[in-house]
Amino acid sequence: MVTTSLPGGTWTLGDLTVTRFGYGAMQLAGPWVFGPPADHQGALDVLREAVRLGITHIDTSDAYGPHVTNQLIREALHPYPEGLHIVTKVGANRDDQGGWPPARDPASLRRSVHDNLKNLGVDVLDLVNLRLGDAQGPRPESAAEAFETLAGLQREGLIRHLGVSNATAEQIAEVRSIAPIVCVQNMYNLAHRQDDDLIDELAADGIAYVPFFPLGGFSPLQSSALSAVAGRLGAGPMSVALAWLLQRSPNILLIPGTSSVAHLRENVAGAGLALSTADLEELSAIG
Ligand SMILES: NC(=O)c1ccc[n+]([C@@H]2O[C@H](COP(=O)([O-])OP(=O)(O)OC[C@H]3O[C@@H](n4cnc5c(N)ncnc54)[C@H](OP(=O)(O)O)[C@@H]3O)[C@@H](O)[C@H]2O)c1
Repeated sequence: MVTTSLPGGTWTLGDLTVTRFGYGAMQLAGPWVFGPPADHQGALDVLREAVRLGITHIDTSDAYGPHVTNQLIREALHPYPEGLHIVTKVGANRDDQGGWPPARDPASLRRSVHDNLKNLGVDVLDLVNLRLGDAQGPRPESAAEAFETLAGLQREGLIRHLGVSNATAEQIAEVRSIAPIVCVQNMYNLAHRQDDDLIDELAADGIAYVPFFPLGGFSPLQSSALSAVAGRLGAGPMSVALAWLLQRSPNILLIPGTSSVAHLRENVAGAGLALSTADLEELSAIG
């Protein structure tokens, strides 16, 4: 049995046990997730500190950089310690302006899976999310052809488990009729709560919900109620935001991003904050 002292304990993605407190690697690339990091050694230090703290879930994508974060993960952590699981996503490329054009045709998806295998230095990817929609959010369109392509790559033995990202409830139902998924990764935090019902439905089916931008992403969460609760508890607002997510539902897995060892440590310590019923009610009213 896998145990952890990290806040939130563990969750099982298919047959992979991960700490509910994970790490999102996107912020390790250069400005606006393009190019190399300003501080290469600092990026390696953050990844090694995440593993040293006991985190066993790292979220990444070959689109970050592109290729930069996967190569940093490999440089910092390969050969990977037993029990560490790296979750990646496919379905978007980068263009010369740093944009995220969709790349969900079968040839692009196959190429992206092979790029991830090469850059991470593994024979099988633990979990691949199909990223749908675009940078503005989910789009109501069929995900069937793209997901069937990934299910084929899974049957070939290149992918252990599948998930979706930036997806609508209809797309989640559509892909589940093709192959099982173990997680959904959508935008969600204290202030953006469009997936409240979805989270509960997925929890009932044993599927993880992994909020991206748990701290607000490129625009850090700001709210007078969040500041008030944080002030009362003598904690930072980011700690309160993470603790709220862990207490929101047992199927929520955290992947907060940071390029700072100090912030990583602060977030791990802060996510364990015990929130009272009154705190939870006040925070829930933000969204
Ligand atoms: N599926 C998708 O489409 C999608 C989209 C976006 C992101 N993601 C995934 O989700 C993960 C998380 O998203 P994210 O990193 O963009 O956003 P986030 O976790 O909401 O926020 C990260 C930002 O918060 C700052 N931060 C972290 N801890 C802090 C602290 N204790 N005090 C003050 N500031 C703090 C970071 O700055 P510092 O570096 O200075 O700490 C960074 O600017 C990503 O790493 C990525 O893996 C997925």
